This record gives sequence, C-alpha cells and structure tokens, in this order.
Amino acid sequence: MSPFLLTRTLPEDATDAALRVDVLKGLTSSPKTLPPKWFYDARGSELFEQITELPEYYPTRAEREILVGRASEIAAVTGARTLVELGSGSSEKTRYVIDALTGLHTYVPVDVSESALTQAGQALVEERPGLDVHALIADFTGGLTLPDTPGPRLVAFLGGTIGNLLPAERAAFLATVRALLAPGDALLLGTDLVKDEKVLVQAYDDAAGVTAAFNKNVLAVINRELGADFDPGDFDHVARWDPRTEWIEMRLRSRVAQTVKVPALDLVVEFAAGEEMRTEVSAKFRRDGVRAELSTAGLELAHWWTDSEERFALSLSVAR
Ligand code: SAH
Ligand code: TRP
Repeated sequence: MSPFLLTRTLPEDATDAALRVDVLKGLTSSPKTLPPKWFYDARGSELFEQITELPEYYPTRAEREILVGRASEIAAVTGARTLVELGSGSSEKTRYVIDALTGLHTYVPVDVSESALTQAGQALVEERPGLDVHALIADFTGGLTLPDTPGPRLVAFLGGTIGNLLPAERAAFLATVRALLAPGDALLLGTDLVKDEKVLVQAYDDAAGVTAAFNKNVLAVINRELGADFDPGDFDHVARWDPRTEWIEMRLRSRVAQTVKVPALDLVVEFAAGEEMRTEVSAKFRRDGVRAELSTAGLELAHWWTDSEERFALSLSVAR
C-alpha cells in the first residue's frame, strides 16, 4: 500500500490555547460571538456529513454535479501533480478530481479535524494505490507549510467554506493561498451563489434539526474542553438571511435568562432571555464579486462553471 502520512503542524496544545482565546474574546464581546472552526470535533464532522445529505442542503449536490461534469477539463487545464485541499473533510467530492488527474503524485488534505483526515486519508490510499497522501492537521487561516512535492500545484477549496470567513479574513486568506502558488498554478474554488431567501434559509434550518444539532455542538465542545456548563437545550438554533451583507447568519438564542460558567477561563457569562449569539456566517456570492476578490489576491479567473440550476459555482483561477 502507498504511504499515508499525517502531520500535525500545530502543537498538541495550540488548539486548546486558541480555543481559550477565541471563547474568551467572543463571550465577552457585545454582541457575543463564537468562532466557527470549533464546530468540527469528531461529532461535528459527523453531523456535517449528515447535513450534506439533507434534502434542503443543496450545495453539496450542486458542487458534485459540476465536479462530475468538469473534472477532466480541470485536469487538462491544470495538469496538476500536487493537489492540496483546504478544509478537506471527508474528501468525498474531491475523488472526481483525483481520478481525472492522471499525473497526480501527491494529495495533501488539510483540516483541523483529525478524525475526518484520518478516515478520508486511509480510505484514499486503499482505493488509489500509487497515490501519496500527506495529510496536514492545520488551520488554513494560519501560515501553512506544504510538503516539498512536484508541481504544477492545484489548491482546492470546496464546499463554499470560503463563505464562512468574514470579508477581511477572506482577503487575507486568498493572499495566503496565492503565496502557496507559483505563477501558472491554480485555485479551484467552490462558492455558493445568491438566490431566493427561502431556499437559502431552509438549507441552514432543516426540518430534521440536523443543522440545529450541528450549531449547538459548539456548546458541547466548550463544555468538554473548558469545563463550561452550557445546557444546549436552553438555546434555539437561528438561521437568518442578511440582504445587506448577502450572508446567512447562524445564531444561538438563549431561551431564558441564564448564567453560564466557564471555569477554565474564570469566566461567568450572563445571557438575557432572547439574547442571540452569532456562531457562523455563510456568505453567498456573485460572479463579479468573486472575480474581483481573486484579482486583488493576484489570481486571474479563467473558468466559471455552475450547476444546471445555477445555485453554486466552481471557479478555476490561475496565479499571475
Ligand atoms: N470540503 C468538504 C467539507 C466542508 S466543511 C465539503 O465540501 O464537503 C468545512 C471543513 O473545513 C470541515 O472539514 C472543517 O473541519 C474544516 N475547517 C473549518 N475551519 C478550518 C480551519 N480554520 N482550518 C482548517 N480546516 C478548517
Ligand atoms: N461551509 C458550509 C456552508 O456554509 C458549512 C455549514 C453548513 C454550516 N451548514 C452549516 C456551518 C450550519 C454552520 C452551521 O454551507
């Protein structure tokens, strides 16, 4: 069997330290917020996989449709020998690209979720003999050090995850991505598109309540890691479309007036009845906006593909 390497680019306790900083900052801000990357412990990654199969959650199906139709074109245009995927999760849709890239030497999945990386990586080396898989446990918003593998390099960032970054974070992130590329290397980017409000809200507030459980999982993470006493049952999941920013905002709303203790931070937090705390945004895009943001980062939009219902876009851009 070909090698599967798992590298931790963060020290074991970095996650812990970063979680403390983020939770302290978020819970003492007004309005309160919680940072999204903490959704994805093993349970969170599993819940996200369930979200991708919900009837209301169209982005995964739409992006898969585009990848199925365009994989051979992506392979021909990029000729990539190294494929780096940021926020790779289960790597499920990526398989279409991996299969089309006949000269592929190494696949580098990057994720904060160790459980997702291990599962996906081990499955891939069994399915694709000859492919090197070098998984990185890393925060894609921090400085990434990639293994020294042959070019051309293709960086994939799928699932519309770029929409989970705020605009300023997005600009910084795209500049970081550009720095990973040599001129002529490419970025394959999945972006969910602006559409009817009802369709958008339902995608983030499904009838079965899986998204609600996913949103509340961040409270379980804080309870476990920082000894907090959040009762997830005392919070309601809220998903709202903001037409000004063109993003879906996920919140947790306190059902009652309550006090929550976070012993590891020596923190006591008061929630008013009905108080809402932001946990995540999911920005929706238009072609011109994506083109402009890429261009600012030194990336030239070369292809823009949508699914048959024009709900989701996959763009291929090339480093100048
Ligand atoms: N690409 C997959 C998964 C998308 S969900 C798909 O399209 O279905 C977002 C993924 O990004 C999760 O696996 C999560 O663990 C990871 N993630 C979120 N924030 C991250 C960060 N800051 N650094 C690295 N990975 C992150
Ligand atoms: N990248 C996904 C998206 O924005 C993540 C996601 C899906 C998500 N559903 C969610 C994040 C619910 C928080 C809450 O579509």
